[in-house]
Order: sequence, then structure tokens, then C-alpha cells
Amino acid sequence: MGQVVDAPVRKRGAKKPSAESAAVFIPENPTYEKLRKAALGCTACPLWKSGTQTVFGEGPVKAKIILVGEQPGDEEDLEGHPFVGPAGKVLDKALEEAGIVRGECYVTNAVKHFKWEPSGKRRIHKTPNAREVAACRPWLDAEIALLKPKVVVCLGATAAQALLGRNFKVTERHGELIETNSGFHVMATVHPSAILRMPDDEARHRERERFTEDLRKLKKLI
Ligand code: URA
Repeated sequence: MGQVVDAPVRKRGAKKPSAESAAVFIPENPTYEKLRKAALGCTACPLWKSGTQTVFGEGPVKAKIILVGEQPGDEEDLEGHPFVGPAGKVLDKALEEAGIVRGECYVTNAVKHFKWEPSGKRRIHKTPNAREVAACRPWLDAEIALLKPKVVVCLGATAAQALLGRNFKVTERHGELIETNSGFHVMATVHPSAILRMPDDEARHRERERFTEDLRKLKKLI
């Protein structure tokens, strides 16, 4: 773990410190509140400049399931909570159909700031790059270490590749329960936003079913 950091305090006008990795921001003996507060001041990658705020993970610290998305979207960035926008609604519905209570899960993202580019008045999601994912990774590691979940569910390729390696293919291996030597399983499945992007109702329905089927597999672990 890195040096002790509570929410970093800056003097007026002082330059924000930069760091290669969020590791330097991780507090010692972290509790959820210490982590969340410290993450609010994270400047480990340039995304803190474009995001409105850090969107840290949320949910009970005793959750057995951690759900990991890619990065907050437009609504999440404004509201400061993960998966509260359209993708969150898809996630909520699939969890409900799979018999899993969202309120009993911890929900977070591989990258904790919104990366976007302007398109007229809209902010269009941009996929975070490998450096941004790597810089943010210590937060996810700290969340996993604190919660000691039974299973970490990667929603989409960014989260899956962060935890399972750059060559991991969600299309080929979604729904597999992969045992780790850290005492928990990892499962990758589709990202709820990918379901929303499907070209027609039939494809959307098929992806939703696949997503829900994958989530049902978690029930045997909890
Ligand atoms: N997409 C994500 O990956 N995470 C969110 O929190 C919202 C949308």
C-alpha cells in the first residue's frame, strides 16, 4: 500500500500534484470512508480534470458480490453515484430477474472519472486507455481487499481486461466463474451499455437474456 493520504488538502493556488498511479493516494488501514474521501482528491491520471467528480464505488462493505463497470457515464458523473443512468437501469432489471438484490451488491467502476468528448452540447463517452485504467487500478484493488467478496463481476471488456488480462475476450468467455488464488471468483459478462447499443429489439432481447443468465450463475456462490 502507498503512503498515508486522507483527502489531499491543497493550498489556494497551489498546483495539483500529479502521480503515475493512484497507489500514492491509498490511505493506510483503509476503511470505506477513508478510501472514498481519498479518492475524491485523486489526480493519478488526467481524467480528474474533465470529470465533474470522482465516482467511487457504493454498497455494503459486507457485500459478497462486487460489480465492476468501465467508468461513470454522463449521469453518474453529474450525480456522483455509479450506474444510476440508462445502463444502471438495464443492470437493475437484469439483477432483479436473476434474483439478486442490487442493494446487497457493491457497485463500482474500473475507472472512477468520466472520460468524454464534446459533440455539440452533449458529452460523448470515450473509452479509457490502458494508462488510465492502470492508474486507477489501486482503488479497485483496495475496494476488493476491503470487502473480501466471494465474486467480482466484470461488466464489459474494460473491467474484464483490467482484472483478467488484456487478451481476455468477454464474447468467448462470458459467464465463466474463474477461480483466483485470492479467495474469490471473477466472472465477466456483457456491459449493460452494450445491450442498449444493440441494433434492434431482437438483438437487445437476446443480449439481455445472456446477461441475466450469466448473473444467475452468481447465486451458487452467495
Ligand atoms: N457505465 C459504467 O461502466 N459505469 C457506470 O457507472 C455507468 C455506466
